[in-house]
Amino acid sequence: MTETIIRIPSQELEELIAQKLLAAGLKEAFAAEMAEHLTYADRRGIHSHGAVRVEYYAERIAKGGLTIDPVCSFEQTGPSCGVYHGDNTVGHVVAKRGMEEAITLAKETGIGIVGIKKMGHSGALSYYVDMAARQDMVAMSFCQSDPMVVPFGGAENYFGTNPIAFAAPTNNDRPIVFDMATTVQAWGKVLDARSKNNAIPNDWAVDGLGNPTTDPYAVKGLLPIAGPKGYGLMMMVDILSGALLGLPIGKHVSSMYEDMTAKRDLGQLHIVINPAHFTEIEAFKAQLSQMIEELHQIKPRHGFEEVLYPGELSERKAIENEEKGIPIAKQVYDYLVSDAVHHDQYENANAFAEK
Ligand code: NAI
Repeated sequence: MTETIIRIPSQELEELIAQKLLAAGLKEAFAAEMAEHLTYADRRGIHSHGAVRVEYYAERIAKGGLTIDPVCSFEQTGPSCGVYHGDNTVGHVVAKRGMEEAITLAKETGIGIVGIKKMGHSGALSYYVDMAARQDMVAMSFCQSDPMVVPFGGAENYFGTNPIAFAAPTNNDRPIVFDMATTVQAWGKVLDARSKNNAIPNDWAVDGLGNPTTDPYAVKGLLPIAGPKGYGLMMMVDILSGALLGLPIGKHVSSMYEDMTAKRDLGQLHIVINPAHFTEIEAFKAQLSQMIEELHQIKPRHGFEEVLYPGELSERKAIENEEKGIPIAKQVYDYLVSDAVHHDQYENANAFAEK
């Protein structure tokens, strides 16, 4: 079955999302900020972390799995570092607050490292590092996610898809924004293959015995990127964003779906570096812009039209989608304009269930 896609203006999408989150019980300011993040993701073509997730968040908010009246605070623990206590409210809001604190520290001291302790799912990490790059900072962000990846050589899941994001400013308004899960493919891509009855490449996932599989229905675990290297990276992410904050890691990270009434206790870490403390900022930005120009001039190999910099496709999509409207699945739109807060479909949904 092919999905029908419709385009709607970004402002309309943002308002619809905010209304739904408000209906689920979130306070107005938080609903607006979360809607802004989710629309950012859809605008930039990161549809896996945009409007499609609203019903999941609405169910979790309505069932108490996210704190709607949180007591959050920033605890500065050293000249350049601190912990933002998230009180298990929506990750999108507290991870943004944490980034604001990290940028302030970096502006003052050259570096800002802020851990966000106890929060819900925080969406697309590019959002946070992009904020910093647009203020002439270099930034990295790491966060935990629930265990659905086999460690290198293993036949059981242990780590999450633990993403890494990085951004740096250039001498125009388009920063370099690199943002990726540490798995070869997201679970959403396996679902897509199921819906189209397609086989999957044999380096995406494993079956119940830990063997590579091309059958999307046999998938029981995802594979790290580049074997032991991706495995090492996802472990690093868990240590930086989980263990460093005294939070559960690995297979002890809470499930996305198992209990929608439970708080998730997730962690995230932002590292912001102020280039002006290391070099001359304008020269730094010009050097990165020159690098991009040189990359654009690289002869593309067969099958490629051009060489792009990380985040360039998203920048292009953002411009196109602002003009033509943001593409979202009709099914998602129908839910957003409906009276339903949610349809109880995520409670107990196994990450590897068919939905
Ligand atoms: P992806 O595979 O779509 O892109 C990865 C990177 O490759 C991006 O920086 C992109 O700009 C770059 N890229 C793509 N095509 C390119 C090309 N032709 N030339 C140059 N660069 C190119 O990303 P992935 O791994 O599917 O992650 C999607 C999102 O999911 C991210 O925003 C990530 O933060 C988010 N995520 C969030 C989690 C959470 O728990 N909050 C967990 C896992 C992922």
